[in-house]
Amino acid sequence: MRTFPKDFVWGAATAAFQIEGAAKEDGRGESIWDRFCRTPGKVANGDTGDVACNHYHLYQEDVQLLKDLNVDSYRFSISWPRIFPTETMTPNQQGLNFYKKLVNTLLEQGITPMATLYHWDLPQWLQDKGGWTNREIVQYFKQFAETMFRELGDTVKYWITHNEPWVVSYLGYGNGVHAPGHQDLQSFLSASHHILLSHGETVSLFREVGPTDGKIGITLNMATAYPADETAASMIAAQSWDGFLNRWFADPVFKGAYPNDMLDLYSDITNFSFIHDGDLKIISQPTDFLGINYYSIAYVKPSTEGEFHFLKAETVSSGKPVTAMDWEIHPQGLTDLLIRLHNDYNGIPIYITENGAAFDDTVDENGEIHDDLRLSYIEQHLEACLVAMESGVNLRGYYVWSFLDNFEWAFGYDKRFGVVYVDYETQKRTPKKSALWYRDMINTNKTKNSVSL
Ligand code: FCB
Repeated sequence: MRTFPKDFVWGAATAAFQIEGAAKEDGRGESIWDRFCRTPGKVANGDTGDVACNHYHLYQEDVQLLKDLNVDSYRFSISWPRIFPTETMTPNQQGLNFYKKLVNTLLEQGITPMATLYHWDLPQWLQDKGGWTNREIVQYFKQFAETMFRELGDTVKYWITHNEPWVVSYLGYGNGVHAPGHQDLQSFLSASHHILLSHGETVSLFREVGPTDGKIGITLNMATAYPADETAASMIAAQSWDGFLNRWFADPVFKGAYPNDMLDLYSDITNFSFIHDGDLKIISQPTDFLGINYYSIAYVKPSTEGEFHFLKAETVSSGKPVTAMDWEIHPQGLTDLLIRLHNDYNGIPIYITENGAAFDDTVDENGEIHDDLRLSYIEQHLEACLVAMESGVNLRGYYVWSFLDNFEWAFGYDKRFGVVYVDYETQKRTPKKSALWYRDMINTNKTKNSVSL
């Protein structure tokens, strides 16, 4: 029978901007997402994070719900503008208090906190200085990280520097679909480098001021890139896509070098003057684990036109079933990815820090949400994890995305990823069928030390 190891970590994940609300309370400053939400045409329905799931006020109820789900661990992020609302860089005590209360409540319930430092809500005052395109941001990020390590290091042992540097740099500065909405490929590349540099600097800092029994990692969004057909040209295109999404971020961190094929491709865009001597050494400081957010795959073929002309590639549909995001459901891609990461990056411990699906949920006459498609998505991906673990992959845990329905960035509240349904009018939470299944599956695993899927 297939089993997960006894110490496998079962978790659920969220991010500050997507759930907290209380945008103008207790001294929180403006974030780039507050600004972006108010820029016409950027976010569906003009939705904002002003209230979101009101988690800032309902965190006790939410921690109780997490407890009811039987999770071992909860991954959340810290809102940088709540801690450093202004350029004076004086920490806002009320912001710190919120995270202390949240962490203490989690610990009281026996839930291990995992904190992400940067899940996309940059203070607007830092964007006004160029945001991630300005190398000076690395020092500001270190100050933020140091404050959090000092304030929470005795209670939070698991830390993630960044969530999805590809999304921050490409969607934020390259194609502008995310805040701050810039459209410039050179900025995409300089931002990506500064994010990675801030990761490396922060890992070193963690070794000095962080908890000695703590672990620190980085979360990358990764997808297996398959050639759309068997031609050599499609294989090359898929290789470039893989470089764009996966290797450009993982290679510097785990191998201390940018991939040569991508340096070649990107030399049409930049002269790389933002990469200074010694940077790669800093970026490749030994990191304790790799977090991966896995949702889908990419089928790739050659193209010299369109958004990805600089990669000489484009993605195409394979015709397989999709989620409400239009993302293809492809658990095999997760197994392939995990095995490949294990081989390429020296058996690094891996956590799946996000995996899940949006579907158009309906609440039935009994107030129940029978989200069988989401349940099946999660089940299939856990099965994919087991297959990878049987091949020797050092997979330590799985965090479902998401604990709650929440603000899905440019899609606003239109897309529901939660295993717990949120009625945004009343803020009532209702665990969906997938949540109850997840709870029972965790329970079986803990009591019998074996799960059959
Ligand atoms: C990831 C993000 C997360 C959520 C999911 C659906 O890219 O990290 O905040 O939006 O996608």
